[in-house]
Amino acid sequence: MNFRQSKIKNFINNEDYTFVPAHFIDSTQDILTSIENVCNEAFIYEQLFKVRCKGEPYSIKNAEAFLDWAKEGFKKDSYYVFFILNSSQLPIGAIDIKSNDKEEAEIGYWLSSFHSGLMTNAVIELCKQAKSFGFKNLYGLCELNNLKSKSVLKRAKFADAGKIERNQKSYYKLQIKL
Ligand SMILES: CC(C)(COP(=O)(O)OP(=O)(O)OC[C@H]1O[C@@H](n2cnc3c(N)ncnc32)[C@H](O)[C@@H]1OP(=O)(O)O)[C@@H](O)C(=O)NCCC(=O)NCCS
Repeated sequence: MNFRQSKIKNFINNEDYTFVPAHFIDSTQDILTSIENVCNEAFIYEQLFKVRCKGEPYSIKNAEAFLDWAKEGFKKDSYYVFFILNSSQLPIGAIDIKSNDKEEAEIGYWLSSFHSGLMTNAVIELCKQAKSFGFKNLYGLCELNNLKSKSVLKRAKFADAGKIERNQKSYYKLQIKL
């Protein structure tokens, strides 16, 4: 699937950012450091990485492994990670489609709080591209206390689809028919 690079706008500061498939970017030190810094921001670390990193900081090695894994997804055509780059071409956010199941695939995302105002538009762009490659339904899972994430999906026209349990945790499921 030839997902494309495109521009997305930050709703709050009106600046343009670049939405880019992971295999379009190089694993330079600056890029890895940017991923490391964002993933150690308190809200993102708490929501996504504290358990995975067993309470240790998200390291540059974690960033390198993530970027390698992200590029691999496009090679294998089995999952699709995109980065959001700032005007210095550094990644300040990421969004992914977690499988190639065209009937129903899960999405996930994180974004630096210093660039808030972008993720709704990134989800809308992801949906547009996914639809053009034949994805029929996408869904996201939000922890019950993660109202910011739920608002992103609602604003991008995902509908409530109840609660689900995964790994002994409850999540709101929101989905969209493309
Ligand atoms: C959840 C997360 C991605 C939100 O990113 P974000 O860019 O701040 O989200 P938004 O797109 O909603 O932008 C923030 C504000 O801009 C406004 N906005 C953005 N796009 C908009 C649009 N198209 N139309 C109207 N308002 C918009 C909203 O007012 C929104 O704030 P509000 O929900 O408090 O009202 C980010 O906080 C994060 O990374 N959290 C930690 C990781 C996480 O929870 N991931 C999700 C797990 S799947």
